This record gives sequence, C-alpha cells and structure tokens, in this order.
Amino acid sequence: MTDVPLLGDFSRERFSPVRFDAEHTASGAEVDSLLDAARRAPSAGNSQPWAFVVGVRADAVHDRLVRHLARSSGAWAPHASVLLANLARRSVEHSTLEYSEFAHYDLGQAVAHLTFQAHRLGLAVHQFRAFDRPGLTAEFGVPPHWEVTSMAAVGRALGSRQDHAAPGTSRERRSVADITWARD
Ligand SMILES: Cc1cc2nc3c(=O)[nH]c(=O)nc-3n(C[C@H](O)[C@H](O)[C@H](O)COP(=O)(O)O)c2cc1C
Repeated sequence: MTDVPLLGDFSRERFSPVRFDAEHTASGAEVDSLLDAARRAPSAGNSQPWAFVVGVRADAVHDRLVRHLARSSGAWAPHASVLLANLARRSVEHSTLEYSEFAHYDLGQAVAHLTFQAHRLGLAVHQFRAFDRPGLTAEFGVPPHWEVTSMAAVGRALGSRQDHAAPGTSRERRSVADITWARD
C-alpha cells in the first residue's frame, strides 16, 4: 500500500489472539513496563481517567478476574500471561458531573500505548467486552464514578495470525478512502 516507514510494522503485524501460550510467563518488570506505557499516554487536560486491575496468570487477582469472563472469552483469555480489567473514571465522586467527556477516548489510548509496549516485548493483546461487568464491579469494589469498560488479555500468541479467527468477529478493514471524510 505504501513505501513510507511504518511503526516497526506494528500495525500490520498486530492481531488479537484467541490462542495464548499457557507456558509463557510475564515478569514483574514486563508487567510494570506495560502499565508504565499506559500511564504515559496523552489525555484531555492530563486527566488520566484510567486504572487497571492486573492479574498475572495463577495469582489471586487473576483467579478473581477469570471468574467473571463470559463463556466466549473464558475459552482463551485465562491462558494469557496477564489479564487486565480496564477502568474509566466516568464522573466526579459523589456527583453526576461527568469527570471528562474524553474518559473512554483516553482509556482507549492508554490501552493502545500498553499494546505498543506489549508488541515491543513480543507479546500480543486481545481487548474484549465479553465479561460480566456487574460481577467484576462488585468483585473489585469499583465505586459508581468508575466503570469497568473493557478487559485485555496479554501474552504470547500461539501459531500465526491466520490461526486466530475469533468466532463472530472479522479482521476486514475499511479502506483509507472509506475512512477519509474530506481531503484535497
Ligand atoms: C473495545 C473492544 C471490545 C472487544 N470485544 C471483543 C470481545 O468481546 N470478544 C472478542 O473476541 N474480541 C473482542 N474485541 C476484539 C475485536 O473483535 C478485534 O480487535 C477486531 O475483530 C479486529 O481484529 P484484530 O484485532 O485481530 O485485528 C474487542 C476489541 C475492542 C477494541
């Protein structure tokens, strides 16, 4: 499509695995580096409206996260080395005031930056919604002004990209022309 340099081919190589290497373990330093990348992401007014529940396979937090996976994600996410619940700060505490109109947007950027760091470590990230939100909210005592927005499984993918078709999802992308609203 283009001869210009790409971000280490990240955008072409990245995919959301549905099979993770259950033998791979992430070190504490690697997990720290993922969270460090997330916290350095830009956000509206530097509001940093994000927080993460971090489970490393076989630890207690991981066990508590796994209990609230949906049947679909429960088939692959537990094998990943790290399981995350991604929280957005939606409102001001004890108020109905919105904390930031960009809270979801900014959380997405933080997870994207975490994904870049994971790729640097040779790991892949699969974000997902297939979990019991009320269950996770209660499990980790998440107060009403925060929301468990999504989850992410991080680990070493087994096999190649072609082996990772998730049922009911697609990797087809809209074209550059299709996503260009206006351009001279
Ligand atoms: C916010 C969000 C929610 C998602 N929810 C799910 C999900 O519940 N189950 C699933 O298998 N994949 C889920 N995905 C992964 C997408 O289906 C996937 O990114 C898309 O099909 C493109 O495939 P690729 O990431 O392999 O390029 C989610 C991705 C995002 C960003």
